[in-house]
Amino acid sequence: MTTRPFLPENTLALAIICDPEDDAALQAKAHTLAKSLHLREGSPGSSPHSFLLVYTENGLELRTFSLESNRSPTPLSIDFISGNTGYRLLHGGGIHQPLARAVGLKPGVRPSIIDATAGLGVDGFILASLGCQVTMIERSPVMVALLGDGLERAAHHPATRETAERIKLCLGNAQEIIPGLENRPATIYLDPMYPHRRSSALNKQEMRTIRELVGDDPDAAALLETALEIATNRVVVKRPKGAPLLNTRCPSHTIEMKNSRFDVYLTGLSR
Ligand SMILES: C[S@@+](CC[C@H](N)C(=O)[O-])C[C@H]1O[C@@H](n2cnc3c(N)ncnc32)[C@H](O)[C@@H]1O
Repeated sequence: MTTRPFLPENTLALAIICDPEDDAALQAKAHTLAKSLHLREGSPGSSPHSFLLVYTENGLELRTFSLESNRSPTPLSIDFISGNTGYRLLHGGGIHQPLARAVGLKPGVRPSIIDATAGLGVDGFILASLGCQVTMIERSPVMVALLGDGLERAAHHPATRETAERIKLCLGNAQEIIPGLENRPATIYLDPMYPHRRSSALNKQEMRTIRELVGDDPDAAALLETALEIATNRVVVKRPKGAPLLNTRCPSHTIEMKNSRFDVYLTGLSR
């Protein structure tokens, strides 16, 4: 199975530590993760790193490490309970929000969804909160570690437990995983990185960090073709406003939003 290398070759190593360093429970978690990701365990001072995965009492954080300032600007962690996702869960508009309409949610209709480009998991988590069974696929092992940590915390919180139970997380390249799924999914959702994305989301520090970590997704067009062959009902592609069609494929219809749009491709197999 092809997954992304942890970091582009020209960047410095990624290491894993815990903070506070003498917490035995955190040390055990850091040790397990370091082993599964084949990462070094260390401390920020021990050697220079571009990225650090840090187990804190609040969860797993990705710290980008600036060699110039010798510090880490904005840690990235995944929090499905509060923050951006928490706000969208409360105020997102339920099944009337554009994302829900794009994937085909209607009263009494909750398709199973493959979120083939999980990223920070926000869209997938929103769909699960609306009642869909969601399989999140992500090829960056570091992103999967962060997602797994966010989902674990969500599974232990009364407000998000049920939602977390509807989500399955898979590490790997969606293009290889999707054709091998036991049951063909009704809906496949794609939100690949876009090279010059102007949306407010990508201007955020967290999305800049992700771009640095996972790079662009130059194979997104091929992923669309695979998804179109497999999805029994539709493929939905999120694009920045004004971006060209993915693989110049005309969608069945489009749902426009302020900074982005959903291109919806009905596949016609079970309409
Ligand atoms: C823009 S982010 C997705 C953001 C996500 N929709 C959210 O709500 O947080 C794109 C992510 O898709 C992942 N990705 C792109 N192509 C992939 C593929 N073929 N298989 C698995 N993951 C992929 C990238 O590694 C990146 O983390």
